[in-house]
Amino acid sequence: MTQLLTIAVDGPVGAGKSTVSDEVAARLGILHLDTGAMYRAAGLAVSRRKIGRDDEAAVTAAVAEADISVRYENGRQITLLDGEDVSTAIRTQEAGAMASAVSRFPGVRRQMVFLQQQMAKTTPMLLDGRDIGTVVLKDAPVKIYLTAAPEARAMRRLRQLEEKGEKADFAAILAEVNARDRQDMNREIDPLRQAEDAVLVDSSEMDFEQMVEAILRIVEEKTGVKARKGVRA
Ligand code: DC
Repeated sequence: MTQLLTIAVDGPVGAGKSTVSDEVAARLGILHLDTGAMYRAAGLAVSRRKIGRDDEAAVTAAVAEADISVRYENGRQITLLDGEDVSTAIRTQEAGAMASAVSRFPGVRRQMVFLQQQMAKTTPMLLDGRDIGTVVLKDAPVKIYLTAAPEARAMRRLRQLEEKGEKADFAAILAEVNARDRQDMNREIDPLRQAEDAVLVDSSEMDFEQMVEAILRIVEEKTGVKARKGVRA
């Protein structure tokens, strides 16, 4: 039996995981599942039900009650909460902080991990997140740990916000990046860490294309699968 092409990409906030993963998956002709979007939808479900983010039992029950799912349109992920497309609503800084808060709870993680494993079971996919190589897809043939110095990550985020015409302050963004790292790396359940068999890619000095090529090289080395040049999924 040939193994399904499954790629696990983990790393801290702002390392470029999402945009780079999108491009890598497109060039390989496979789907990209942004698992952070699912935790963001879970966070939104909790906000909408006006539940305190520290109330573990209520948060876990709210996430169980919520219908979180993903579908693809022309290869692009659409994230749904109770049937509504929340792909844009989950992109705020606040939704990210809420996602990080609710993702501390084992009951929430179990639900998300189950959904992700179901999706990856039958479809060739690249999944990006915090625990893909360590928990969700322990047997993935390719595992990447994509990181960058906190300052480089904060600078990228600053540029993104500026491009969107939003006012941003470097020191505040750096503080937010560091706070998120602390929360994601120090939580008791499935903290962010590099899987032993993951390949480290430090993107501090890389531009977008260099990151994409570095990952595609690792995929080819590990599986023999080559990207289809210039072809998007
Ligand atoms: O990648 P992101 O910023 O969209 O993720 C939002 C939060 O969700 C992040 O701070 C931690 C959590 N998360 C997680 O715990 N496990 C994942 N696989 C993906 C995200």
